[in-house]
Formats: sequence, C-alpha cells, structure tokens
Amino acid sequence: MMRPIPVICDCDPGHDDAMMLLLCQASPRIRILAVTTSCGNQTIEKTTYNALRVCTLLGIRAPVAKGSPKPLFGQPITAPNIHGQSGLDGPNLPEPAVPLSPLTAVELMAQTLRQSDEPVTILSTGPMTNTAALLLAHPELKPKIAGISLMGGGIAHGNWTPAAEFNVLVDPEAADLVFRSGLPITMAGLDVTLKALITETDIRRIESISGEVARVVAQWMEFFYAFHKSIGYAGAPLHDAVAAAWLIRPELFVTQQMFVRVETQGDYCRGATIGARPGRTDQSYAPNARCILDLDRQGFVDLVCEAVASYGGAT
Ligand code: RIB
Ligand code: CA
Repeated sequence: MMRPIPVICDCDPGHDDAMMLLLCQASPRIRILAVTTSCGNQTIEKTTYNALRVCTLLGIRAPVAKGSPKPLFGQPITAPNIHGQSGLDGPNLPEPAVPLSPLTAVELMAQTLRQSDEPVTILSTGPMTNTAALLLAHPELKPKIAGISLMGGGIAHGNWTPAAEFNVLVDPEAADLVFRSGLPITMAGLDVTLKALITETDIRRIESISGEVARVVAQWMEFFYAFHKSIGYAGAPLHDAVAAAWLIRPELFVTQQMFVRVETQGDYCRGATIGARPGRTDQSYAPNARCILDLDRQGFVDLVCEAVASYGGAT
C-alpha cells in the first residue's frame, strides 16, 4: 500500500464540499492533516459551522480553522439558492464536538506545512482566498506544497455567469495567483464536474445503505438535487468530490495538460478560466495545469457509495 497522501482540505461546505470530506476521510489513500474554511456557498461563519458539524459526523479529528470573511478584493457572493440558508440544508446534523482552532486558516495551513515531514497537497473546493493568502504570506513554504487539486473554473463555460464558475468568480484575483504560482495544479472544472452527476437512481442506492452517514448523505443529495433538477440537470453535480476522487482513483478520469489563465477584468468575463491545449507555437501558452475533462461516471458513483458504506452499513 502506497503512503497516504497528506492533504489540507480548504472548503466552503456546501453539500459537495461535505462529500469531498467524506471521500477523503473514508479513503486509505488520503490523510487529512487540516480543514480550513472559505467564504463561498455561505458566509464564513456558516461554512465554518458546517465544517465542524461535518467533521463531527464523519469522525474527522484534524484541526479546523476559519478562513477569510471575504475575497482578496470585492465582496462575497453566496449561494443560498443552491445550498440553502445554512449552506448545508437538508438533514439535521450533530452539533460540533470538535473545537475550532484558535489559528486563522492561513496560520493553520502554514503550521501544517512546516510540521509535515513531506510535501502536502492542498485540496481546494471553494474560493481560493486562503491558498492565495498563504502563497503571498509564506512564499518560503511553497516547496512544502506537493500540489493543488482544485475544483474551480470551466474551460468551456461558467455556471454562475455564462463565463465564470462560482469558486473562481468569488475571488478571481486569488484564483489567478494560484494558477500563476508554478505549483502542480489539477483543475476539476465544470468540464468534468457537470458529468459527475448523482442521479435519482444513485440516491435510491445510497438510501439502501444502512447507517447514520448514509441517511444524512441521501438527504444531502435530495436537497442538492432539487435545485439542479429545477433547472434541467439529470442529477446533482458532485463538483468538489471530483477533486478528491482524482487523488484517490486517478484512473477514473481523463486529463489534459493545458495553459490556463484567469480573467480578472471585464463586465461579462470576470472570473473566466481561459484554456489552451498544447501545440501552440509561442511558449507564452505553456501548460500550467492538468485539466480533468472526463470521467467514468459509474466508477465515480461506485466510489462514492463504497465510501458512504464504509461509515457503517452494507452497500
Ligand atoms: O461551482 C461549483 C462550486 O461552487 C462548488 O465548489 C460548490 O461547492 C460551490 O462552492
Ligand atoms: Ca465548494
């Protein structure tokens, strides 16, 4: 068995962020060193409360630290239409039984990198404010970052605006800093995450799994699917779980090295992720990210269901 991948989960729970944490905690391939929160799906207070509740539910004992209350520039954007007023509407969740770290997210990220005996992967599934702030405040720690597996962007199109995906749109300057960092990046953008659908059949399968976690997940999926069904989706897109599944079962995915830059200007294109495939002559478009473009959806759903069942109950 290969050594587990040490990760810092930077997230804005969020139903699909919660599923990212669930996959990481269930997998022997991953070791969660820290959880940090960003303001995205809901305010930083709500995403942090949700992170503590999810860690309590899943038995995650890693430290949890609160991130920035706003993007590097501009004002927060939240998504109550998708994740509800709490940011994680649906089932009742246990009150936090794990303490909130007294450190800020950036302080915990930096401490985690310093203390790790090997480079750490940042698993980013919300706006990239904390990661950008970490890179700005602690450039000396870049060698301790193995890479960044992020859910964000979309080469073909956006979701929050026609051009921009939500995580990048909330903090385009942060995303631009990350994509220019020179660190190994794997981008789980909308190009693949809109295919990572949990259908009603899959929800019925999850309902058939016994155990408290399965019951909660089935209700999360029902709630998360409701909005997407209302706008014509065939299932709930588990955006953030893809960034985790890539680390756990990379063979489920099709990727391509691409040049990716973030547009930070423009009335209509702010937050767009502009991509170019290799083959251009000028080196100014040299690839800087591995973009995930497709997946084995059934294999992905099987991974999710096996992870859910691992918390107690048979698939
Ligand atoms: O655009 C999808 C992304 O925005 C996901 O990370 C979801 O949780 C929201 O943060
Ligand atoms: Ca998210």
